Amino acid sequence: MYKVSEKPLVSKEEIEKRLIVLAKEVDASGEYDLVLGVLTGAFIVVADLVRNLSCNPNISFIKASSYGNSTESSSVVVQGLEKLCLENKRILLVDDILDTGKTFFALVEQLKKLGAKTVKTCVLLDKPSRREADIEADFVGFSIENKFVVGYGLDYAENYRPLNGIFTLEPSE
Ligand code: IMP
Ligand code: MG
Repeated sequence: MYKVSEKPLVSKEEIEKRLIVLAKEVDASGEYDLVLGVLTGAFIVVADLVRNLSCNPNISFIKASSYGNSTESSSVVVQGLEKLCLENKRILLVDDILDTGKTFFALVEQLKKLGAKTVKTCVLLDKPSRREADIEADFVGFSIENKFVVGYGLDYAENYRPLNGIFTLEPSE
C-alpha cells in the first residue's frame, strides 16, 4: 500500500511563482496559435499557465495513452487529434510531467505530420533520469529526481489529482 507524503515536494506557492516566470519565458519565445494540453494530467497546469500568458492562444486537449515498453511511437495511442486543424499552426504542447519521453516524442512527430508549423513543448515537471526517448522539453517548471509524484493534476490510479501541490507516493506499513 502507498500513502501520500505529508510535506509537498513542490508546494502550491512554489508552483504559482514558477508558472509566472515560465509564462514569461514562453511569451519571450514567440507567438503561439494553440496551447495543446495532454489529458488528463495537464488540465491544471494548462489552466494556470495560460492565465499567465500575455498572448491569447486557442486551447485544446488531446488524450494520450502509452502501451508496452517499446520506444516506437506506435506504442502511444492519441485521441482527439482528428478534430483539430493544425495546418501551419504554432503549437505549445503542454503536459504535467516528462518521464521516459515516449509520449512527447510520439506527439511531436504526429503534430508535425499533421502540418503544424512549429511545436514547442512545456512540462511542469521533468524526470531527466528516466528518459528513454530522444526528447527534451523547451520549457520546464521543475526538474525532479526519480520519484513517483501525485497532485496538481498528476494521479496514481486516477486518485490524488486535486491535491494542491506535488506530493510523493511512499510505501505505507
Ligand atoms: P512518458 O511518455 O514516460 O514521458 O510519460 C509521461 C506520462 O506518464 C505523463 O503524462 C503522466 O501521465 C505519466 N507519469 C509519469 N511519471 C509520473 C508520476 O510520477 N506520477 C504520475 N504520472 C506520471
Ligand atoms: Mg499523462
